[in-house]
Amino acid sequence: MPVLRSIRERFERERPLDGVRVAACLHVTAETANLVRALRAGGAEVALAAANPLSTQDDVAEALGDVADVHGRRGDDAAAYAKGIAALASGEPQIALDDGADLIAATHEQLRGGIEETTTGLVRLRAMDLACPVLAVNEALAERAFNDRYGTGQSTLDGIVRATNILLAGRTLVVLGYGWTGRGVALRARGAGASVIVCEVDPLRALEARMEGFDVMPALEAAERGDVFVTVTGSRGALRGAHFERMKDGAVLANAGHFDVEIDLAELRAAATGGVREVLPLVEEHVLGDGRRLHLVAAGRVVNLAAAQGHPAEVMDVSFALQALAAEHLAGADLGPGVHAVPPELDRQVAALKLAALGVEIDTLTGDQEAYLSSWMPRP
Ligand SMILES: NC(=O)c1ccc[n+]([C@@H]2O[C@H](COP(=O)([O-])OP(=O)(O)OC[C@H]3O[C@@H](n4cnc5c(N)ncnc54)[C@H](O)[C@@H]3O)[C@@H](O)[C@H]2O)c1
Repeated sequence: MPVLRSIRERFERERPLDGVRVAACLHVTAETANLVRALRAGGAEVALAAANPLSTQDDVAEALGDVADVHGRRGDDAAAYAKGIAALASGEPQIALDDGADLIAATHEQLRGGIEETTTGLVRLRAMDLACPVLAVNEALAERAFNDRYGTGQSTLDGIVRATNILLAGRTLVVLGYGWTGRGVALRARGAGASVIVCEVDPLRALEARMEGFDVMPALEAAERGDVFVTVTGSRGALRGAHFERMKDGAVLANAGHFDVEIDLAELRAAATGGVREVLPLVEEHVLGDGRRLHLVAAGRVVNLAAAQGHPAEVMDVSFALQALAAEHLAGADLGPGVHAVPPELDRQVAALKLAALGVEIDTLTGDQEAYLSSWMPRP
C-alpha cells in the first residue's frame, strides 16, 4: 500500500494527530491494519471494532493488539457487534471512522468529527440531526472510482466465482442498481464474457447503462433471463417473491450492497417449500415448489467480503489514504455539524500519490495555459 505508506512516513515526521483519540468501526483486515498504523504514526490513540463479523481476520485482530484496542472476532453475533461499538464509545473518541454509521450515531455528540465510508452510512447520517461534522469520503472521486467501481466490481465477481465456481462467460448476469458499484460489476462482468442486463429505477442511470451497451429492463423481465443476479441498490427488496417465481432453475443470487436486505430472505425462505440445504460452503440451495433451485451466495450478505477477501490492497490503499488525510483534515479544520464533502485537494493529493506509486507521470499546465484558463477575456 504505497500511497498509505507515503502518508505514514509524512505523519511520522509531522505528527498531525498527536494525542487525538480515534475510534474506527471498519472491516478488520490487513489493509485496515495499515490504516491503523498510519494513524498511530501520526500520533493518534486508536481503538478498532469489527464492522462486519464475516470479514474479520482474527490473525489481523491479534497482530494489531500491540498498537490498538481491537474488538471483535470472526463470526461474532449482533450482541458482540453492539458490545464493540459500546466499547469504542466508552473510550470517548474525538474522531470516528465508520462503515455504516453505527459508531457515529452512537458517538456524534462527543466527536470533533466523523468520517463515513459507505453510501448506506451516509444515507443514515443525512437523515440524522448530526451534532458534529462528518466527511463523506465515500463521495470523493478517488474513492468512487477506485473502491466502488473497480474494487467492488472485481471483488464481487471474485466472491461469486469462488463460492460457486461458475464460468461467467456465456451466462447472463443481471445487475440491480447502476450506481458506482453497479457500474463496476456490470463492466467487469462484460469483461469476463457475460451478457449483462441492468435494472434501475433512476432514468439517468438507466440511460447511461443503455448507452454503455447494456440491456436495460425491469427486474421482473430480467428475472426470467438471468443466470446470475447481483443486487447493489443500497435499498431493500430489490429481489423478492415475484422475482423468485420467475427465475430459471439454477439461478445464482448474490448481494454486494451493504446490508443483507437487498434480496428478500424471508420471501426466499417462504418460496422454498421444497427445502433449503447447503450445497457448497457459502452456497444455499433453495428448492421451490415446482422443483426449481435458486442458489443464494453468502446468505445474502455483502458477497465480496463474505465469500472473497474484499477489495484488493491497492484499492484499499487509495480509500484508506483518503481516510488518513480526512482524519488529519478534521483534526485541524473547524467545520460545522452535518455531512461535508471531502475537499477536492485531498482527492487530487491521493490521485497524485497513486500515480507516483504506479510510476505514471503526467503533464502540467504551462503558464500560458493557466493564464488562458483563468482569464475572462473574450476568446480570439
Ligand atoms: N460491497 C462493497 O464492497 C461495497 C462498496 C461500496 C458500496 N457498497 C454498497 O453498495 C450499495 C450501493 O452503493 P452505490 O455507491 O453504488 O450507491 P448508488 O446510490 O451510487 O447506486 C445505487 C443505485 O441503485 C438504484 N436503485 C435503488 N433501488 C433500486 C431498485 N429497487 N432496483 C434497481 N435499482 C435501484 C439507484 O437508483 C442507484 O442508481 C450500498 O449499500 C453501498 O453501501 C458496497
